[in-house]
Amino acid sequence: MFTAPAYDAADKPALYADLARDLAGLVAGERDWVANCANAAALIFGALPDLNWAGVYRLKDGELVLGPFQGKPACLRIAVGKGVCGTAVATGATQLVADVHAFPGHIACDAASRSELVVPLVVAGAVIGVLDLDSPTPARFDAADAAGVERLAGILAAACDF
Ligand code: SME
Repeated sequence: MFTAPAYDAADKPALYADLARDLAGLVAGERDWVANCANAAALIFGALPDLNWAGVYRLKDGELVLGPFQGKPACLRIAVGKGVCGTAVATGATQLVADVHAFPGHIACDAASRSELVVPLVVAGAVIGVLDLDSPTPARFDAADAAGVERLAGILAAACDF
């Protein structure tokens, strides 16, 4: 049984160090991508304050397809280059969006979302999907969140056979 510790959300470096440790523990000994991404989404959604969605989209046949997540039901498929997620894939770069309404082509899965952080999942140098976090609060995510979630995405990508 996994019992979540009392994460300190005020100290982001410590928070993400704790999350990296706990994610590594959760995925240890398992290679199934659905199982590991499901637990990653649950861990992140439970630990980070002020989220309304956390989950994975995986590249399949040239487009992003919805994977395991926590939050409201979401868009099933996103084309590469479209929305924040598709832009993360097309550029291979983390997308830190303070105001989703100001992002050209943002795809609103939940009308409550106001800011978003999307980190590419990279395996052997190739983007194979994204880890996507949404918040109802504008500018919820900063550079410390981006660095922390990139660390989590690295652990997750390395732990799965996609
Ligand atoms: N907002 C994303 C779509 C996915 S949902 O946020 C879960 C985008 O613009 O790509």
